[in-house]
Amino acid sequence: MKILVLNGPNLNLLGQREPDVYGGESLDDIIALIKAKAGELGVDVDFFQSNEEGALVTRIQDSIGNYDGMIFNPAAYTHTSVALCDAVKAVDVPCVEVHLSNVHSREEFRHKSLIVAACVGQILGFGANSYILALEGIVQYLRRSK
Ligand code: DQA
Repeated sequence: MKILVLNGPNLNLLGQREPDVYGGESLDDIIALIKAKAGELGVDVDFFQSNEEGALVTRIQDSIGNYDGMIFNPAAYTHTSVALCDAVKAVDVPCVEVHLSNVHSREEFRHKSLIVAACVGQILGFGANSYILALEGIVQYLRRSK
């Protein structure tokens, strides 16, 4: 089973970026945690981060036939991107939306996700652990749907 972990804009700055909101782990730290959990679960994981919407659309399109599931933190594009919503809908690859912070306890513009309707579920508010919970969730979902 192969899972693609996608991260959107500014998540390359995790660790230095608003650590009170997003925690002290860098993206590489989070990737290491996900790899360790993937090893326990016996699944393969690939990673992609981009600050560009089009690059994320292209990577999602390229998941067709190459991945069984996706974990996606669209970051700020969560709240603005019809193109990313359409891309997730266009591919037959189940996706879990992830956020480090609890976006519902923050500014009102973060309360709306344009992506979640295209996803099987959403996990947020647990910091780096949101990704681990999402990995467990998508793997269980895929194993049950086989
Ligand atoms: C985020 C929440 C978004 O609102 C924000 O723009 C981010 C990070 C999170 O993981 O909590 O960049 O997706």
